[in-house]
Amino acid sequence: MSILVLPGDGIGPEVTAQAVKALRSVAANGPQFEMAEAAIGDAGLHQAGDPLPEATLEAARRADAILFGAAGTYESDLLPPEKRGGHGLLRLRKALDLFANFRPVYAFPELIGASTLRREVIEGVDLVVLRELTGDIYFGTPRGVERDASGQRIGTNTMRYTEGEIRRVAHAGFRAARQRRHKLCSVDKANVLETMALWREVVTEVGRDYPDVELTHLYVDAASMHLIRRPRDFDVIVTGNIFGDILSDAAAMLTGSIGMLPSASLGEGGRGLYEPVHGSAPDIAGQDKANPLASILSAAMMLRHSLGQEEAARAVEAAVREVLAEGYRTPDIMEPGARSVGTEAMGDAVAAAIQRQRR
Ligand code: NAD
Ligand code: IPM
Ligand code: MN
Repeated sequence: MSILVLPGDGIGPEVTAQAVKALRSVAANGPQFEMAEAAIGDAGLHQAGDPLPEATLEAARRADAILFGAAGTYESDLLPPEKRGGHGLLRLRKALDLFANFRPVYAFPELIGASTLRREVIEGVDLVVLRELTGDIYFGTPRGVERDASGQRIGTNTMRYTEGEIRRVAHAGFRAARQRRHKLCSVDKANVLETMALWREVVTEVGRDYPDVELTHLYVDAASMHLIRRPRDFDVIVTGNIFGDILSDAAAMLTGSIGMLPSASLGEGGRGLYEPVHGSAPDIAGQDKANPLASILSAAMMLRHSLGQEEAARAVEAAVREVLAEGYRTPDIMEPGARSVGTEAMGDAVAAAIQRQRR
């Protein structure tokens, strides 16, 4: 089994190193992995003149699974698109046609006190945001900045979905709901946008194939409210690229920290890209402060969805539970009386707990 590791920028390399540690701990008495590393993001631009170097894309096509850290910095976000670190990631997702991005939002009982929200609201939260990842305003054309006749600059992006793109992610949503609590909530803006009216129509059509799944619809503005007010009512949420990006960062706070949210980006085949939901966090990069659990939990999703190692995936997840129960906390989830640790020490604790789990 071959894993391509793409550390990227900022805290990307710091958290990814801990996920690699966890995978090595799994491999110590189990499945063997071949791990290779390649450059992406600002690191790709510096090393090879491109945020998605050709060699990286080729290696990604050959790998069984890809573990990604974070790409981009505030500086490169200001460069032309082809030089922005984050665009390397967008191109990778598109090139591999990884249209279904699963972002599980699980409130660990051990972390209820770490959230800014009240215990009775978040206790028992267990939902998945399924974000469409290769369409929408992220990729629609026309796009760009141009000048009109008077010389004024005009910025354009286009929200666009084909019914085929909506249908395949809707099927993925219904299938995911079937493996969980049989509830799918589709989030759109069908009252204003034609694209989103089509979204609702197609999701409803697909729903006829899944009579055992309860389908509901929400507008994205109301959804953002309900998500914070009554998060336990949600099972699977399926939504477009931009709404999913925004809703999942908000949903992260139900778990206590954006540093707790893993994700899997999947296509039609078995190959997947596994990435924490957070970014490169320039404000804490290089300080051994980043929470590596989102990256480690992404590695667990990789074991499950691309490498066929369900038992190992569970061992990694149980190890995370164990270190949280033992009181290990990075600063973002720190609570009074807990054991304050850095990125490395958290990674070491999880790796050791995996050894105990697998014994
Ligand atoms: P961010 O997710 O990097 O950071 C937001 C806040 O959350 C910061 O205060 C940060 O310190 C904190 N945070 C994030 N991850 C954390 C972790 N693991 N542990 C503890 N705290 C954590 O978002 P941003 O500040 O909007 O973006 C920073 C850069 O990252 C930008 O250049 C952006 O384009 C890029 N970005 C990349 C990705 C990605 O590669 N998937 C995702 C989002 C943003
Ligand atoms: C994410 C990020 C990316 C996105 C950026 C870095 C391009 O915010 O993975 O959530 O918007 O998809
Ligand atoms: Mn995002």
